[in-house]
Amino acid sequence: MKIGNVEVTGYAALAPMAGVADRAFRRICADFGASYVVSEMVSAKGISYNSEKSAKLMESDSRCPSAVQLFGDDPETIAYAAEFAKRYNPDIIDINMGCPAPKISGNGSGCALMKNPRLCGKIVKAAKRATNIPVTVKIRKGWDSENINAVEVAKYCEENGADALTIHGRTRDQFYSGKADWDIIAQVKQQLSIPVIGNGDITDAESAAAMYEHTNCDYVMIGRGALGNPWIFRQINAYFSRDTFIVPPSIDERLSVMYKHIKLACEYKGERIGVQESRKHIGWYLKGFHGAAALRNEAGKVSTLDDVEGLIYKVRLEILNHS
Ligand SMILES: Cc1cc2nc3c(=O)[nH]c(=O)nc-3n(C[C@H](O)[C@H](O)[C@H](O)COP(=O)(O)O)c2cc1C
Repeated sequence: MKIGNVEVTGYAALAPMAGVADRAFRRICADFGASYVVSEMVSAKGISYNSEKSAKLMESDSRCPSAVQLFGDDPETIAYAAEFAKRYNPDIIDINMGCPAPKISGNGSGCALMKNPRLCGKIVKAAKRATNIPVTVKIRKGWDSENINAVEVAKYCEENGADALTIHGRTRDQFYSGKADWDIIAQVKQQLSIPVIGNGDITDAESAAAMYEHTNCDYVMIGRGALGNPWIFRQINAYFSRDTFIVPPSIDERLSVMYKHIKLACEYKGERIGVQESRKHIGWYLKGFHGAAALRNEAGKVSTLDDVEGLIYKVRLEILNHS
């Protein structure tokens, strides 16, 4: 797939996930074969107020094309943030038009933008004017079941210069419940000339293949399916290149990648914050392990890398005792 002048190889991208897909997780997923990664959403307004915290979210060192995702509802503020983002060297600027969270969509940003397709177009146009790298958008199916307008919004975005579009097949009202509607993704794909990235409910190589087949999309994007499971990208690449037998990760690999992930987070954010923010990831990595519930409880208490090493030791003991 080519987004503007950016060549995206491979078969699957890591979705933007606030509070989860930070620099460390994006790096780990890219190492496991994610061929395109998108940052956590960054407040354009925050950038215009010189928020260091917002700017830090733009840092990236993934070994694949990487996008900074912006949210906001004012074209000029988005343009300012897109121009500002240049100093972090993203390959692509993505604009969030799908976030359902009241904190975002209650302020006119995220999915609320879809209520005003013309504004979506203006935002894309402003971002395009501000930067010479490709601009993409990420939308949902619509606001609610009465307002399903993904095709209309997608066309406005394309007409105003969007270089690609990702669509998550749920309405804002659905948040993350129910099943993603892949038919709407197929409809959007049929109507656009720019690349369309399908998103929603891909959990393994088979469902990635099913998404490609069902929607004819140009690429797929994975969010929750990658949590505690960065190997999903390796499996998908192997599945499509058909030259490798897909081996699930061993317990040793799972634990050592988890540790590497947390160490990276500490490198980027310092040990206290790095470990604290990694607690939820530990829970996801340990899913399915023997005694996982108790171990997850312990994961909630780790504060240092030493604590994490202690927890890994306990996990190994637990496994030995039950093998
Ligand atoms: C914890 C979490 C945080 C998310 N944050 C963002 C975000 O910052 N920007 C965005 O466009 N979508 C965000 N999403 C939505 C995902 O990118 C994706 O569209 C959604 O999870 C559906 O894909 P999946 O079924 O593969 O998870 C988030 C989802 C989750 C679960």
